[in-house]
Amino acid sequence: MQKIALEMRSHNCGELRKEHAKQRVNLCGWVDTRRDHGSLIFINLRDIHGVTQVVFDPSENESVYQQAKELKPEYVLRIEGLVRQRPPGMENPEMATGAIEVVVQNHQILNSAKTTPFPIVKNVDASEELRFRYRYLDLRRPELQANMFIRHKTAQAARRYLDNQGFLEIETPFLVRSTPEGARDYLVPSRIHKGKFYALPQSPQTYKQILMIAGYDRYFQIVRCFRDEDLRAERQPEFTQIDIEMSFVGEEDIFRFSEGLMKEIFEKIKKVSLEAPFPRLTYDEAISKYGTDKPDLRFGMEIQDVGEIFAESDFKVFSSAVKSGGIVAAINLKGGAAYSRKQIELLNQFTVEQGGKGVVTVKIKAEDWEASIRKFFTETMVEKINEKMDAQAGDLLLFIAGDRLQSLQLLGRLRLKLGREEQLIDQGQFKPLWVINFPLLEFDLQEQRFIAMHHPFTSPREEDLKYFKTDPAKVRARAYDLVLNGYEIAGGSIRNHNSETQRQVFHLLNISDQQAKNKFGFLLDGLEYGAPPHGGIAFGFDRLVMILAGENSIRNVIAFPKTTSALSLMDNSPTSVDEAQLKELGIKLIA
Ligand code: AMO
Repeated sequence: MQKIALEMRSHNCGELRKEHAKQRVNLCGWVDTRRDHGSLIFINLRDIHGVTQVVFDPSENESVYQQAKELKPEYVLRIEGLVRQRPPGMENPEMATGAIEVVVQNHQILNSAKTTPFPIVKNVDASEELRFRYRYLDLRRPELQANMFIRHKTAQAARRYLDNQGFLEIETPFLVRSTPEGARDYLVPSRIHKGKFYALPQSPQTYKQILMIAGYDRYFQIVRCFRDEDLRAERQPEFTQIDIEMSFVGEEDIFRFSEGLMKEIFEKIKKVSLEAPFPRLTYDEAISKYGTDKPDLRFGMEIQDVGEIFAESDFKVFSSAVKSGGIVAAINLKGGAAYSRKQIELLNQFTVEQGGKGVVTVKIKAEDWEASIRKFFTETMVEKINEKMDAQAGDLLLFIAGDRLQSLQLLGRLRLKLGREEQLIDQGQFKPLWVINFPLLEFDLQEQRFIAMHHPFTSPREEDLKYFKTDPAKVRARAYDLVLNGYEIAGGSIRNHNSETQRQVFHLLNISDQQAKNKFGFLLDGLEYGAPPHGGIAFGFDRLVMILAGENSIRNVIAFPKTTSALSLMDNSPTSVDEAQLKELGIKLIA
């Protein structure tokens, strides 16, 4: 397809090469830098596509040269000039346009600019607060512009792939019924129906299931979701999903489509060929080996349960943990015996900060263990541990004893911390995996009841239905997460298409028929009109782009993100509103 030409510019600032020499061109952009070399003025002209050096030469045009002295960073310029190859030795291999420069014959200042609160450069030394307040300047910086390109290309690759696979892109509403999925809802008051509220969707979950009931057997949407939850580096109150639902499918189908989508995206964006099928770990395996349901497989240091070996030891911390139903688990930091007392104390502190009682460490020396607790263990115990932990001279073993899940989680966090600090993680690697067989329910200590681990529409595994009455915690779900490099980048499940099973799950969640009817009546009704078996998945699009861009916060791949306290600093929201606006909505503030 031929690109449509513009009147103001013939090329962009990243486009000109040797072959363009002797061409007359028009460029538009921002003054990136200005260098006065006595008789010549060099300006780097920047737009989103790159930077081109333009030269103001008095011998070409004296008045243009004189005016160039006025130019300041971030002025908006249009120049007309002649491309010339840079003299030998003057090329700049760092710049894509470094083989040429443009000798200005005419220029126009399209706009001036105030001095910016931070320079428009890579790796700028400015607080995130300042960058967010002046996001339009921040977004001019090359790395954010590169991230926006990656985001765009990822969305296009996903769309193309799903379109080619026969998926229909269908929009679902943003003003919906409040049907909490786990997080708090953002509520929107209704003016027409005073005292009533819409909610912003936490995801299109119920709508996509309704679409399956309506026969649209392959749906997708790149869609905004809203959740009022505490924020972290990989969480935003509004974020984007690639949301997918299909009819007449089982887990394996969803896995194949998702793997295909991931392969396509990584091929297009990173030129990396991901190997499919992706490995799978059950939820139990993931927790046992890595202390988390989103393990980073780019390095080893797996957790081992060594409780059995220590059950009869004289070291009470270990033996009593095992006797009271807990565990003793350990990781091995290769080469860690070189750690100083201070470093080890910091690891201990970290464990305490994370809610643990501390970490027991053992340095492996050629002859024996170097540890104050060595005396509590027999030769056989030491030998068995060394073998199980693959311990060699120079290693550091880290043990945590206590409640099973908590100890594994603490070791999981230590593993990750050490992996990062010791640079055991190859940043260029991409290690996806499926985590499967999640429990259907988790017990909420605060609410003293079971809540859905994924969401309440997830189907239990057929063979576990027998535990519904006797041991609900044992029921596994037909749910799965896709994990990449330690991040949960997608989650989904096969749903309850049978209204009776759906009702039973609601009962397990302590949701009465009446409550279910109130909250999800439309979906329950729909399930009674010939709902096909269906299932789906949603990718955290921002997280995926974050990984593709090599960033460690999704805030750097979202054009207009919120701060960690959910503020938008550029437009200063949320704000108070006029009394009149509240009155119109029938709302009175109590504080
Ligand atoms: P889930 O809640 O697991 O599933 O969300 C799917 C994916 O969305 C991403 N994600 C987030 N990204 C940024 N900020 C957040 N606050 C945030 N919360 C979630 C994660 C997550 O894996 N309706 C179901 C999907 C389904 O069952 O098909 C759902 O929303 O990467």
